Amino acid sequence: MGAITESEMQLAQVGVFLWILVLKTYEIEEQHHSLSVSNICTNTTHILFIYIFPHSQPEDPKTANIEAWYMDDSPDDQRLPHRQYPNLPCSAETLQSLGIKYWSMNPSLYPNDPKLQAIRKARGYSYEDCITVSPATLPNYQDKIKSFYEEHIHTDEEVRYILEGAGYFDVRDLEDRWIRVHTKAGDLIILPEGIYHRFTLDEGNYAKALRLFIGEPVWTPFNRNTIEESHPSRAIYVQTVKAS
Ligand SMILES: [Fe+2]
Repeated sequence: MGAITESEMQLAQVGVFLWILVLKTYEIEEQHHSLSVSNICTNTTHILFIYIFPHSQPEDPKTANIEAWYMDDSPDDQRLPHRQYPNLPCSAETLQSLGIKYWSMNPSLYPNDPKLQAIRKARGYSYEDCITVSPATLPNYQDKIKSFYEEHIHTDEEVRYILEGAGYFDVRDLEDRWIRVHTKAGDLIILPEGIYHRFTLDEGNYAKALRLFIGEPVWTPFNRNTIEESHPSRAIYVQTVKAS
């Protein structure tokens, strides 16, 4: 038997690499009880992509898969859908024009999801924590849920990845109409700094969400009734949306 050639050695290295790749993917899938051929194929591709292009950007955010509609003005329970009759959907283009970003994720891959890592890296999210919003888990539930539903802005973007359950993010368009965005498990949504918004659970009464932030988190809401339209974050937001 002759000595191993350089090309045989390279072939062996590629083989070992691919084998490790498949094992790693299998390990993630098994950990999250999501073993299936399609999951393994999808996530092997993600991992391969991250290894080959470690500085790659995540896929462009889309809003196409989000369900959103213009709200009625009924004073009924905030957890109801509050659709107009007939329903008046809000298009993906409108959400995009308001600066909303969205990715569809596979929550069973959290926390080892390469797609999440790519988004985190590309957007500089250095902080994360998890919040479970439900009467049973959230301290001072009544006060908190009331404050979440006060119309407000932040001086930073609001990033939420729904891992379990669901909830509504209501956002205002520039004509001051409420748009209700239904976020469910697997939705990662970014609301831009300065957008008027609020949050409520839906009738499922439960949402577990990952909160992401750049640097030290600042959750302070500035309620609309306490600020002027000239608030710097609001002014920049309006200017940006009008210019886009
Ligand atoms: Fe908020």
